[in-house]
Amino acid sequence: MKRRHFINTSVLSGLGLTLGACRREERVLAENELRGTFSLDGNRISIHTKAEVKETRIFHITDTHLALDDHRGEPFMAFSQRMAAAYTVNTHFQTGENITTKESFTETLSLAKNEGADLIALTGDIFSFPSKAAVEWAFDMLVKTGIPFVYIAGNHDWHYEGMKGSSEALREEWTEKNLKPMYQGNHPLYSSYDINGIRIVCIDNSTYEILPEQLEFFRKQLDTGLPLLLLMHIPLHVAGRTLGFGCGHPQWGSESDRGFEIERREKWREGGHTETTMNFRDEVFNCTNLLCVLSGHIHRPSVDVEGGVPQVVTAYNATGAYSDIKILSL
Ligand SMILES: [Fe+2]
Repeated sequence: MKRRHFINTSVLSGLGLTLGACRREERVLAENELRGTFSLDGNRISIHTKAEVKETRIFHITDTHLALDDHRGEPFMAFSQRMAAAYTVNTHFQTGENITTKESFTETLSLAKNEGADLIALTGDIFSFPSKAAVEWAFDMLVKTGIPFVYIAGNHDWHYEGMKGSSEALREEWTEKNLKPMYQGNHPLYSSYDINGIRIVCIDNSTYEILPEQLEFFRKQLDTGLPLLLLMHIPLHVAGRTLGFGCGHPQWGSESDRGFEIERREKWREGGHTETTMNFRDEVFNCTNLLCVLSGHIHRPSVDVEGGVPQVVTAYNATGAYSDIKILSL
């Protein structure tokens, strides 16, 4: 539910507002506010909501950077070699021991199963490039857990470095060719899933931009008044954060793009973000029924709060990291 609805009501009815009227508006706002408390303890998060929900456990996994490949990837090796060599061996986020990305993913899924997770939420860069072998392996592993899962792409999942084409075109092409099973028949750019009274909303912002149809879809989710969880790969800009928090960042654009040569991709958009992307960012942080934003991309864990909405970045699963999230009623 959008806070601006209340603000507009307040403006229409509030010419000559008294202090009492202001307090009434605050009460209306508070009645529609579904957020209760947010607690973080290491990689465990508890979210208490004022809505009636069944206690729900979500394992959030992001940035595993799986790079396994087979003969089907050979024609694309010129485009995958840099990322195939990245993150091959990593330091486990808890034990400090060496761990491969396959081991990290396997270990996290086992934990999710043993802990009785209700949902696995995957927010992109699960793959370092769109390898058919990697997608098949990860999909099979996920299905074997017996736990429902949702997936949204990151900027690496669909990217073969140096391949010609715009980000939007390459995303569309490699989603259709190789990533498709991960979406389980749902729209790859936006989708929602209901679990135990909570609506999980997935928005693909892996090109750093939001499309008009994605903003429209997001608004519809807000208007349901249900308690929402928003999943995206790239975290939203929050004051003081770097360009890594690059969705809605005012400095994002061709002039500040330092990575396009090494990643061999088109430069970020001249003139910065579209108005749609900027509006989306503002609307996310201006609503009352969004419990939390879950994202990745940065590889380091962090939490920001704007407009009362917590935004969590979970550390990269290449190191075995994940977030264990519990949502329950107050
Ligand atoms: Fe990543």
